[in-house]
Amino acid sequence: MEKGLTLPQDCQDFVHSLKMRSKYAVFLVFVVIVFVFIEKENKIISRVSDKLKQIPQAVADANSTDPALILAENASLLSLSELDSAFSQLQSRLRNLSLQLGVEPAVEAAGEEEEEQRKEEEPPRPAVAGPRRHVLLMATTRTGSSFVGEFFNQQGNIFYLFEPLWHIERTVSFEPGGANAAGSALVYRDVLKQLFLCDLYVLEHFITPLPEDHLTQFMFRRGSSRSLCEDPVCTPFVKKVFEKYHCKNRRCGPLNVTLAAEACRRKEHMALKAVRIRQLEFLQPLAEDPRLDLRVIQLVRDPRAVLASRMVAFAGKYKTWKKWLDDEGQDGLREEEVQRLRGNCESIRLSAELGLRQPAWLRGRYMLVRYEDVARGPLQKAREMYHFAGIPLTPQVEDWIQKNTQAAHDGSGIYSTQKNSSEQFEKWRFSMPFKLAQVVQAACGPAMRLFGYKLARDAAALTNRSVSLLEERGTFWVT
Ligand SMILES: *[C@@H]1O[C@H](CO)[C@@H](O)[C@H](O)[C@H]1NC(C)=O
Ligand SMILES: *[C@@H]1O[C@H](CO)[C@@H](O)[C@H](O)[C@H]1NC(C)=O
Ligand SMILES: *[C@@H]1O[C@H](CO)[C@@H](O)[C@H](O)[C@H]1NC(C)=O
Ligand SMILES: *[C@@H]1O[C@H](CO)[C@@H](O)[C@H](O)[C@H]1NC(C)=O
Ligand SMILES: *[C@@H]1O[C@H](CO)[C@@H](O)[C@H](O)[C@H]1NC(C)=O
Ligand SMILES: *[C@@H]1O[C@H](CO)[C@@H](O)[C@H](O)[C@H]1NC(C)=O
Repeated sequence: MEKGLTLPQDCQDFVHSLKMRSKYAVFLVFVVIVFVFIEKENKIISRVSDKLKQIPQAVADANSTDPALILAENASLLSLSELDSAFSQLQSRLRNLSLQLGVEPAVEAAGEEEEEQRKEEEPPRPAVAGPRRHVLLMATTRTGSSFVGEFFNQQGNIFYLFEPLWHIERTVSFEPGGANAAGSALVYRDVLKQLFLCDLYVLEHFITPLPEDHLTQFMFRRGSSRSLCEDPVCTPFVKKVFEKYHCKNRRCGPLNVTLAAEACRRKEHMALKAVRIRQLEFLQPLAEDPRLDLRVIQLVRDPRAVLASRMVAFAGKYKTWKKWLDDEGQDGLREEEVQRLRGNCESIRLSAELGLRQPAWLRGRYMLVRYEDVARGPLQKAREMYHFAGIPLTPQVEDWIQKNTQAAHDGSGIYSTQKNSSEQFEKWRFSMPFKLAQVVQAACGPAMRLFGYKLARDAAALTNRSVSLLEERGTFWVT
């Protein structure tokens, strides 16, 4: 039997790409054992591995109307749904084969049962009053997205998830090169869609270690999603179970994904925050999906502030920048670092430009928000965002904002939010070396112009409080 497990290279690669989907892997192993058992020659295996290569292509061809699928031709890894349908075709073929051969496909049957069960577990859409909204807070790291995400997390009738795509990034490793971004964007998009539909099971494939019985202690930053920590999703605490991510104010048992999915369906709206969606155009299928009412809020921040913050938060990743600063200009900054910075700024700018252009599929579904505006007027911005999303803002959220943006107390009372936040959001200006600001200004000029971040002419302007680096802009959205 052992030698039955040595697969041809193609097959191995395929199995590898599916390693997070254990049932598939187990099933493939079963299939291969059956083959080797019955056919000593390599003939069938090579035919199957050819099929593995052909089928996804055929699936992609079948739907040439979906522009996103065209990208799949060049991506090394196809999106989940494509893999899924490719796989079920293959499965059907192999089932026929094993029936002909009179072999009882035990593993496969078990897999099917699970599918059936999963279907049963999905009750019909909730009969809630008013249309259900699906809010995506699209940001990049260090733009204040956790804070802005709280605006949605704090409202009781919204099911909010904090960075669920973290699991996908961790699990799916893509080949370096061009296909990388397109491949991951497709997977992110498909997972996002399932999550918006409250199919939280889709995450299970990416959580390590793999959840058993739909139970997991490894849901990333569970405590940052209130909905995962309330009754009845918070089950009684189980002693001696290691929980990597736990709820903030109470102890709960491991997350029961079924309970979470049920809670998701019960809540009136769904919102999630993601720093891993780079290109707005990939979201077109979600915007056009009749089951969803998508609202995208793109959050941006002054790239100078973002870089300053990243250099502190991700010190390891920015070692070369630090070294360049400390070197008193001995060595130039590596061009690839500058390129990466420029690339980040450009992808943010391109998404925003697309959003502001409001193509038909995005009309009324896109809003651009500057972190600086949120910092200076959190309540006002929260109201605008909720208005845009078409969700009434509750006093719950207003209270939270009031409590969490208020300045420290002192003898004379409470400082105004406005005054205090405006100091906070500009703090970076007083610690950033001017030459660093210059690099960002050179690399991110077009993005800064679009968002209304003014360039600092010299070091004095950077640190002069009476020089504003922020152009006043009205709201960046149209309905
Ligand atoms: C093609 O797209 C339609 C709707 O856009 C969808 O119902 C169908 O499942 C898609 N087919 C494939 C093979 O993905
Ligand atoms: C795929 O790659 C080929 C050559 O590398 C290129 O000509 C083509 O435009 C690419 N297609 C897409 C959809 O990116
Ligand atoms: C499997 O067999 C059934 C009936 O014998 C047939 O209708 C079906 O097309 C076959 N599936 C494949 C993928 O060959
Ligand atoms: C998870 O919750 C569902 C729904 O209440 C329940 O049927 C299931 O038994 C729970 N799973 C475990 C392992 O407790
Ligand atoms: C803002 O709040 C901080 C503490 O949160 C305080 O140290 C600072 O003095 C306040 N500044 C103003 C102008 O209110
Ligand atoms: C700061 O800027 C203001 C307005 O441009 C200017 O009048 C002032 O002299 C500047 N202060 C310093 C210390 O350069």
